[in-house]
Amino acid sequence: MPNSQQTFIMVKPDGVKRRLVGEVIKRIEVKGYELREMKLFTIDETLAKKHYAEHVERPFFGELVDFITSGPVVAMVVEGPDAVAGMRVLMGATNPLEATPGSIRGDLATLIGENIVHGSDSPQSAEREINLFFG
Ligand code: RTP
Ligand code: MG
Repeated sequence: MPNSQQTFIMVKPDGVKRRLVGEVIKRIEVKGYELREMKLFTIDETLAKKHYAEHVERPFFGELVDFITSGPVVAMVVEGPDAVAGMRVLMGATNPLEATPGSIRGDLATLIGENIVHGSDSPQSAEREINLFFG
């Protein structure tokens, strides 16, 4: 398959609470990507800090860790042609206000802090995050 890649995708606690797991998975599958791994669990503080290490200096780091540990998430490995960039398009911009209608965040979210999904932002991040969650 041309440039087949794996990326790390997670339905965040807001998405699980709002019962949007099926909606997110449906969009991933109808797009044409494959699910390779999946688990429902609650992230602990240690894993949250590792996952968001790139944001440690940001003023909202504490809120980010509190939020991502606030309830169960659904973590996945998604595979397909250019899946890293492709999933970022499917997710839409970080801020739902700027996310294009048709995207997950554009259709389903209103707040930057509750934007339903996480997706790796580069092949390097994907490898790191897949190892962190499924290694
Ligand atoms: P994600 O990592 O969750 O897929 O989101 P992203 O790449 O689109 O955005 P990123 O810059 O990595 O930020 C991680 C999460 O932090 C929250 N955020 N809040 N208050 C703010 O200015 C702000 N900026 C980012 C968002 O929930 C974002 O998803
Ligand atoms: Mg990010």
